[in-house]
Amino acid sequence: EEDALSSERVNSSNLAQRLPQCIIIGARKSGTRALIKFLELHPQILSASDEMHFFSNDTNYKLGLDWYRRKMPWSRPDQITIEKTPKYFISEISPARIHRMNSSTKLVVILRHPTTRVVSDYTQICANKQARNESVDPFESLALERDTGHVNLEYRAIQISMYHQHLARWLELFPRDQLHIVDGGNLIVNPIVEIAKVETFLGLEHQVKNESIYFNSTRGFYCMRAAKGRPERCLGANKGRKHVKISEKMIHKLNRFFRPHNERLYKLIGRRFSWR
Ligand code: A3P
Repeated sequence: EEDALSSERVNSSNLAQRLPQCIIIGARKSGTRALIKFLELHPQILSASDEMHFFSNDTNYKLGLDWYRRKMPWSRPDQITIEKTPKYFISEISPARIHRMNSSTKLVVILRHPTTRVVSDYTQICANKQARNESVDPFESLALERDTGHVNLEYRAIQISMYHQHLARWLELFPRDQLHIVDGGNLIVNPIVEIAKVETFLGLEHQVKNESIYFNSTRGFYCMRAAKGRPERCLGANKGRKHVKISEKMIHKLNRFFRPHNERLYKLIGRRFSWR
């Protein structure tokens, strides 16, 4: 076993590549990119440049914690390193591996309306397939069982949105107060409010302010203002896509399906969302 902390080399200005003290574990298509980009506006938050897929991928995990650490940005002791890999949320093995790295790792999960997340997920898969000139399956053929017409529990996008099933695994190992849940719907419309809650969770002062962002009406989303050493920036065109049109009936069916799952989530986390 590697000793993560002793292998940390600190240079003369106290800069070191440190293992993340906080990990954004998902969920996919809930606003994970926006969350990490807005958090990076905080001078005491640094993030890994890519999704690391370290704990969820055996090939990467075998490279060891030192490999992972060397992927992290150079940070001062007063800064916090964060990483986001949405795959961790649904990965069976990731909770135990993160716990083994550091049982006090702070976890952040961002959740959005489960049906909206499914449609966003499907929209992304369609866009990726179309870019490769592959054919796309109609939504209903994926989301419904062919024989019964019931919601298809085998469809991965549906599985991901059954949030309580995944969170239950994390909460078996991590205490509830070590997990912060970001409201992905609110991050779209009130980003600073959601970011402030994360700052509090991380024990940081509120430094990400309204002045740092502006609403870009062309994009329909908040973007980051230019600042010292940083140009103005919106997220890429693959964030905030126009969703594939799904019938009202199908949306209602999914909403009805998710309702009891949402209730189980609320019970598990001791908090409700106003998802209808
Ligand atoms: P849609 O593309 O369905 O609108 P992720 O980064 O986890 O893949 O999540 C993508 C989602 O982030 C987008 O889903 C979008 O709704 C949401 N989002 C939240 N804030 C955003 C922002 N400021 N700019 C662009 N997308 C944002």
